[in-house]
Amino acid sequence: MKKILVWDLPIRIFHWLFAGLFVGSFAISHLVSKHNPLFGLHALFGILLVILVVYRVIWGIFGSEHAKLKHLFFSPAELIAYVKDEIFGPGKKYIGHNPGAAYFTLAILIIPIFSVLTGFNMVSSGTETLEEVHELLGNGAMVLVGLHVLGILTYTLKHKELISLSMIKGTKMGPESEGLKSSHPIAALVLVVLISAATFKVFSNFNFQTGEFYCTLTGQTYFLFDKEDGEGKENGQENHGRKNHEDKEDDDD
Ligand code: HEM
Repeated sequence: MKKILVWDLPIRIFHWLFAGLFVGSFAISHLVSKHNPLFGLHALFGILLVILVVYRVIWGIFGSEHAKLKHLFFSPAELIAYVKDEIFGPGKKYIGHNPGAAYFTLAILIIPIFSVLTGFNMVSSGTETLEEVHELLGNGAMVLVGLHVLGILTYTLKHKELISLSMIKGTKMGPESEGLKSSHPIAALVLVVLISAATFKVFSNFNFQTGEFYCTLTGQTYFLFDKEDGEGKENGQENHGRKNHEDKEDDDD
C-alpha cells in the first residue's frame, strides 16, 4: 500500500466549484428575499451547475479511470450491503467511489438539470406544481448533501483515514497499480476557462436593476426576482416571467 493519486485536478476543481455553487444557490434561495436583486444569483448559479455537470459527464466518458461514469453504477443490493457493512461490520475500503458515494454522485449530478428546467419553466408559466417540484428537488438535494458529509465523517472515524483530504490533495492509500499517472492539468485548465467564460456570459446577460435574464439557448428573457414597487407588473401579476427576445428588442427601440 502506497499513497496514490485517485482524484485528478479536473475532479477536484469540479468538486469544490460544484459544492460552492450548490451551497451558494441553496443559501440564496432560503436567505435572500425574492425582491432582492441578489436573488437572481440563485438561478445563475443553477445554470453554472448544469455546465459543470456537462463537463463532468464528458470527463466521465473520456477522463481518468476513477472518474469514469461506469464506476458510478452499483446495484441496490450492493448499496445496502455497503451501508450494513459500514455500520455493523468491519467496513470495506474503496479506491474510487464506494456504492454510497456513487449513488450520491449520480443523484446530485441529475438534480441540477431538473432544478434548472423546472425553475425557468416556473418563472415563465407561474405554475404552482412546478414550484413545488422545484423546491422539493432543492431540499431533497440538500438532504443528500447532509448524508454525503455524514458519510464522510463516518468513513473517517471508522477507517481512521482523513478521506476529505483526498478531494484536496487527490491522494489515498492504495495499491500502486490503481494510481493515476497524471493530474491532467490541461483538462483542468479547460474546466477553469469554460466556467470563467460561462460565468462572464450569464452575468452579462443578467440585469441586476430589472431582474431580466436573457437566455441565449431559448432566446427568451426571464425575470429572476420580483420587483417590490410593482413596476413591470401586468394585470396584477408579479414581475416574474418570460418574454420573447423580439419583445425585448421592441422595448429597447
Ligand atoms: C465539507 C464538505 C465536503 C467534503 C469534505 C467533501 C468530500 C468529498 C469526498 C472525499 C468525495 C469523494 C468520496 C469518495 O471517495 O468516494 C466527495 C465526492 C463528491 N462530493 Fe463532496 N464533500 C463535501 C461537500 C460537498 C458538497 C456541498 C457537494 C455538493 C453538492 C459535494 C458534492 C460531491 C460530488 C458531486 C462528489 C463526486 C465527485 C465526482 O466524482 O465527480 N460535496 N466529496
